[in-house]
Amino acid sequence: MVARSSRRSLRCEARKVALLGAGGGIGQPLALLLKMNKFVTELALYDIVGVAGVAADLSHCNTPVKVTAFTGPEELAGCLSGADLVVIPAGVPRKPGMTRDDLFNTNAGIVQALVQAAGKNCPQAVLEIITNPVNSTVPIAAETLKAMGVYDPKKVIGVTSLDVVRANTFVAEARGLDMKDVDVPVIGGHAGATILPLLSQTTPAVTFTEAEKKAMTEKIQNAGTVVVEAKAGKGSATLSMAYAAARMAESTLLGLNGEPNIYECAFVQSEVVADVPYFASKVLLGPHGVAKVMGLGELDAFETAALQSMLPQLKAEIQKGVDFAKNAK
Ligand code: NAD
Ligand code: LMR
Repeated sequence: MVARSSRRSLRCEARKVALLGAGGGIGQPLALLLKMNKFVTELALYDIVGVAGVAADLSHCNTPVKVTAFTGPEELAGCLSGADLVVIPAGVPRKPGMTRDDLFNTNAGIVQALVQAAGKNCPQAVLEIITNPVNSTVPIAAETLKAMGVYDPKKVIGVTSLDVVRANTFVAEARGLDMKDVDVPVIGGHAGATILPLLSQTTPAVTFTEAEKKAMTEKIQNAGTVVVEAKAGKGSATLSMAYAAARMAESTLLGLNGEPNIYECAFVQSEVVADVPYFASKVLLGPHGVAKVMGLGELDAFETAALQSMLPQLKAEIQKGVDFAKNAK
């Protein structure tokens, strides 16, 4: 991730961002961060309930971003029309004891319906999907758009930036480094063992013993579950997710505006690993969304083994999403 202080924009275009699920635990703080973002011109908030109050509240913040509210499916087209970026945190979060895959039955249909509406009303927009299980909801989005004839792999992005935010935080804390200087690429997917931080590629270079490497990797993989347990039935990560999604959105807008050298890790259509059609890795963001999916670089022996052992889970979760979308009426 590029440090915030180094972020400029060559051009400041008018940019409409649609936020679907804006009344929720992630939606509300993310709406606030987007209202504070100088690259956003209009912020269109959508939810099935409670979003008018969020919009009224936010609209009193004296930043230039115009805030509008849309409630229920009959108002969804108005929210999406003309959007450059659509961010989707709509859906249910985990409770203690659940895996992200346990959310599939509820969230698959929510994501599919919202993506269908985006495909119809703003087919040119970049879609950023936060809703879990990301390993399955991104393939659902892609297959849904393919069936509509409007799929562009550069424009469908699974948001995994929270894994990078966590890895950066934990490694900086462990090594006494300045938070703003640390960058740990995180590859794979966004569930359990499919979350693979590449500690060997940390900037600045850090060294870990084999035991430390294993412990740090597991800490990053389990961080979402730690939050779910600490919230004890009241949801999952919301504030850190809003922070991470706001960064991802800003990077995407910078890319759309023509700013060079904007890199983030994200779960996208990929050929980086054979037989795995979607994969999280570093991507270059550009004027049309994902400009380039970067390679993995050199992995150490621990990372190579962890990558091989996660692949069956990742492939199965991707296929579950593909099958859902293909079998949908
Ligand atoms: P939440 O329950 O607090 O909010 C979800 C919002 O979605 C609610 O306001 C709800 O009304 C709305 N919603 C439900 N169905 C909808 C529909 N059909 N259309 C529009 N809006 C709808 O949940 P949350 O904590 O904000 O989490 C949302 C999702 O984000 C969950 O699936 C969670 O697992 C996921 N999540 C992902 C990451 C990640 O790293 N990608 C991190 C944290 C949470
Ligand atoms: C996270 O990583 O915090 C999210 O995927 C939410 C969850 O269910 O853990």
